[in-house]
Amino acid sequence: MSGTPSRRPRVAVSRTGLPGDGVERLAARFDVTSWPRTAPPTPAELAGLVRGCEGLLVLGSDRVDAALLDAAGPDLRVVALASMGYDGVDVAAAVERGVVITHTPDVLAETTADVAMALILMARRRLPASMDALRRGAWGAFRMDSFLGLDVQGATLGLIGYGQIARAVARRAAGFGMRVRHHHPRRKEDDELSRWVPFDELLRTSDVVSVHTPLTRETQGMIGATELARMKPTATLVNTGRGGVVDEEALLAALRRGELHSAGLDVMTGEPRTSPSDPLFNEPHLVVLPHVGSATETTRAAMVELAARNVEAILDGRCAPTPVPG
Ligand code: DGY
Repeated sequence: MSGTPSRRPRVAVSRTGLPGDGVERLAARFDVTSWPRTAPPTPAELAGLVRGCEGLLVLGSDRVDAALLDAAGPDLRVVALASMGYDGVDVAAAVERGVVITHTPDVLAETTADVAMALILMARRRLPASMDALRRGAWGAFRMDSFLGLDVQGATLGLIGYGQIARAVARRAAGFGMRVRHHHPRRKEDDELSRWVPFDELLRTSDVVSVHTPLTRETQGMIGATELARMKPTATLVNTGRGGVVDEEALLAALRRGELHSAGLDVMTGEPRTSPSDPLFNEPHLVVLPHVGSATETTRAAMVELAARNVEAILDGRCAPTPVPG
């Protein structure tokens, strides 16, 4: 008796050369087509790549909207992000079409918390400005008043959002002798690391405010001129969440007027920003990094691996290990 061999499910991957074994793991089971470049596909190119596929693995910077889901066609069952944030995905459109969206919490919290802590230290102690002085040959004779920053020990850290990354920052901050408090709009609970405080109190009383909230309609622009004005003039603002949560114009204005000591950003609006004359890159009291929160080999490989496991689970008819919260 001859039968038609069943077709292997098709999975599209939006980049080539992703770290770790995740894509190989998928290729062992499914018909995988990767976008052949490390540069991102345009929306039209991604739509062409995913046409007729059952699964799609994308990065956090890829846009997944209704048009892309429709271009994929009715067989699409899962879009797995190798990213914790999923603000680039139209989750409602996916739900309408029966497509499961998954992301990668858990695996990147510690690594991203390291960068938040690094930004706190760099901004508070003005370390990049000290390095710049060296490079300009401007070290000079020892002076008691040169390269002065503000202490981290004994400072109060206010965390906006209190998920895995914020808690990982809280653990680190305790080791640096900081007092920690947090604000989360719904989970108004203290724990052994931190005390819940109202948003306004967090802004008024913190020496360092660190943003760890996802970008949503509610959090878009949540730190604007009004909120910055409530912060201490000696305070530091750090953002490793998403750029859109902080009003960058208002932040630059506050720094220029000396209404805020310093700031550290790993994320910004309109990424990637590539102009060397970008005002964000040229403000002396602002430390800026190119979205490197999760950028270690181990963590990036773990993100791709978890995304691959999510694809596999859905295509096998199981529950995904880490679907986006519904
Ligand atoms: C994330 O996982 O959300 C990081 O910002 C990298 O995209």
